[in-house]
Amino acid sequence: MIETVHVGLGARAYDIHIGPGLVAEAGRHLAPLLARPRLRVITDENVAALHLDSLRAGLAAEAIEMEALVLPAGEATKSWPHFERAVEWLLAEKVERRDLVVAFGGGVIGDLTGFAAAVLRRGVGFVQIPTSLLAQVDSSVGGKTGINAPQGKNLIGAFHQPVRVLADTDILGTLTPRDFLAGYGEVVKYGLLGDAGFFEWLEDNGPALAAGDQAARIAAVRRSCEMKAEIVARDETEQGDRALLNLGHTFCHALEAATGYGDRLLHGEGVAIGCALAFELSHRLGLCSQEEPSRVRAHLANMGMKVDLKDIAGDLPDADGLLELMAQDKKVVDGQLRFILARGIGEAFVTSDVPREVVKALLSDELARR
Ligand code: GLY
Repeated sequence: MIETVHVGLGARAYDIHIGPGLVAEAGRHLAPLLARPRLRVITDENVAALHLDSLRAGLAAEAIEMEALVLPAGEATKSWPHFERAVEWLLAEKVERRDLVVAFGGGVIGDLTGFAAAVLRRGVGFVQIPTSLLAQVDSSVGGKTGINAPQGKNLIGAFHQPVRVLADTDILGTLTPRDFLAGYGEVVKYGLLGDAGFFEWLEDNGPALAAGDQAARIAAVRRSCEMKAEIVARDETEQGDRALLNLGHTFCHALEAATGYGDRLLHGEGVAIGCALAFELSHRLGLCSQEEPSRVRAHLANMGMKVDLKDIAGDLPDADGLLELMAQDKKVVDGQLRFILARGIGEAFVTSDVPREVVKALLSDELARR
């Protein structure tokens, strides 16, 4: 039942294994990659409490010795102090160039550990064992690593591809429904950006998938990883098509900044709302019919997800304030906002050619409905 997706990046190519029991079987999967039977693992308190014993046992089954650094859970960990601690711990543990480091957690742990591996001894290999749905379908694949700066999210980092990804779908069963659905926002994104058939499949299978259907979960993670792998292989360092993966993200980043990057709005929830807004914007620009944004919103609502600005609790800035936050996005080029728009479900493209007044009118209308 284990599926494999290959990321074709020449000398940096790697496999993503997807399926149940991969943590318990981690030793069998990783032993062939090791120069000596020892691994250093970086994780967070939540993941450690639930799953570290299982990983330790899985590695011990192949006589792989393991030590772990357990960092606090949460976005604040993606910062210089914890990064410094991680790098110094890896050095103190005498991790050598031919050793591998393991990122065992969600996006925060994956990004921080990958970045630590990128700079340690000018680069050691690392393995991603993503434990959130969001990390399994997005952040663990593609080699974007880094930490946040006081000036903004993900402003410090490096491209550093993992040597293997183990996406254990059993682990998804321990997520809260809210975290699961936030990750699902990124899954929907793949259908919306490039595969109308996948979106249709999600319309039919999304509810079962959220309720725990293993086969549906594996299929959704596999298709998402396949799409990401294909885009990353085409454009590893985001000179062009990789920006498609940012569908919904220009709106999302502004909303996350407005809500303080915390519990009011999870990243994946912002992506889902951002995708709905991107489709509405595409309709207003005459690129697609009204049915397309309506269908996006209907699916999100059917899944019990946040759909638009009125689903965000508390105050939000006005339309100008949100536009201001969008302009701080790191994907702004020459002061021009870049948007991912769509000619229909599964037909996204990148453009800087969006009149500010149209975005402002859309945001004003959405805010008025709150
Ligand atoms: N999460 C967007 C990317 O990996 O490019």
